[in-house]
Amino acid sequence: MMRLYLAPMEGLADPPMRDLLTRVGGFDVCVAAFVRVTHTLLPDRVFLKSVPELAHGGRTAAGVPVRVQLLGSDPACLADNAAMAAALGAPGIDLNFGCPAPTVNRHRGGAALLTEPELLHRIVAAVRRAVPGDIPVTAKMRLGLEDTSLTLVCAEAIAAAGAQELCVHARTKTQAYRPPAHWEWLAPIREAVRIPVIANGDVWERTDWQRIREVSGCEDVMLGRGAVIRPGLARSIRQPQAEAMAWSAVLALVAEYYTGLQTGPSPQYAPGRLKQWLGMLRGAYPQAEDLFQRVRGLRDPLALARLLWPRPGATQASSRMERGSLPGPGMSW
Ligand SMILES: Cc1cc2nc3c(=O)[nH]c(=O)nc-3n(C[C@H](O)[C@H](O)[C@H](O)COP(=O)(O)O)c2cc1C
Repeated sequence: MMRLYLAPMEGLADPPMRDLLTRVGGFDVCVAAFVRVTHTLLPDRVFLKSVPELAHGGRTAAGVPVRVQLLGSDPACLADNAAMAAALGAPGIDLNFGCPAPTVNRHRGGAALLTEPELLHRIVAAVRRAVPGDIPVTAKMRLGLEDTSLTLVCAEAIAAAGAQELCVHARTKTQAYRPPAHWEWLAPIREAVRIPVIANGDVWERTDWQRIREVSGCEDVMLGRGAVIRPGLARSIRQPQAEAMAWSAVLALVAEYYTGLQTGPSPQYAPGRLKQWLGMLRGAYPQAEDLFQRVRGLRDPLALARLLWPRPGATQASSRMERGSLPGPGMSW
């Protein structure tokens, strides 16, 4: 059975976005953005802030499990934090071996670990030992740091240490996000390990999903930016006959997203995140341009809300927002 994963995306696939995208439908699993582990056992609140779904059985409102992703390089410390996340109800623990951020890499985290397959093995083994057997421990890697000389060695180390699945973003760190993603690398990785390999990188449309599966032979695919630009992408993969999501429906999601951010723990990010999403939506919906231009210079949350609810009923919607209640799914505003 093929599965669709929503990619971890720090600052983009945040909890309100996960909520919306999984309610639209099509996703089987979400991976939350990384929680950075250095030398301490993180307190509950750090996990709960980054993955508030933990307070609801580790699932989004639509019932899709959200795995907790950890980033770090110290096996024992990662193991302790993984056990803590599992105790808080994480339905899975994912390990980040792909982050390209210079600060993270300087501290031997993320993609930097792809030069140290032996350490990858120790990390995965320690985390696997620390987490109850019924909770999957998985990993996400890029093809390498600067080249692909260790790709297969790294994948094998991760699998041999007991990871249950391996997601591969088909680029090296040096390739950053430059197209194309090197899907041709996924098949040799899949052949080298006995665990499911989840294909990831540059799946923007349904036809990309078909091609990445053909080229890689992987059953399962992780969608990242494509799912943000086309909120109906996962659903359209599941239901090819269904009509593409109309702009009016996307606009309703945008308004809901803004409400979700406003009523969440970090409302100060709401205007920036709203602009970020509208900017990205222009990739698939030219209609987003007009709204993007109008919200661009605005900072006042209420002025932004008025642009999102310009129709009759707007007062109702914004007063709901001011009261801090999150409207449920299926509301017609
Ligand atoms: C804004 C942003 C933040 C990201 N944050 C993470 C992260 O926290 N953990 C991770 O493993 N990958 C992260 N990624 C990488 C994505 O999960 C994914 O591998 C990458 O975007 C390629 O897939 P796509 O072409 O479908 O977007 C991030 C990507 C973006 C664009």
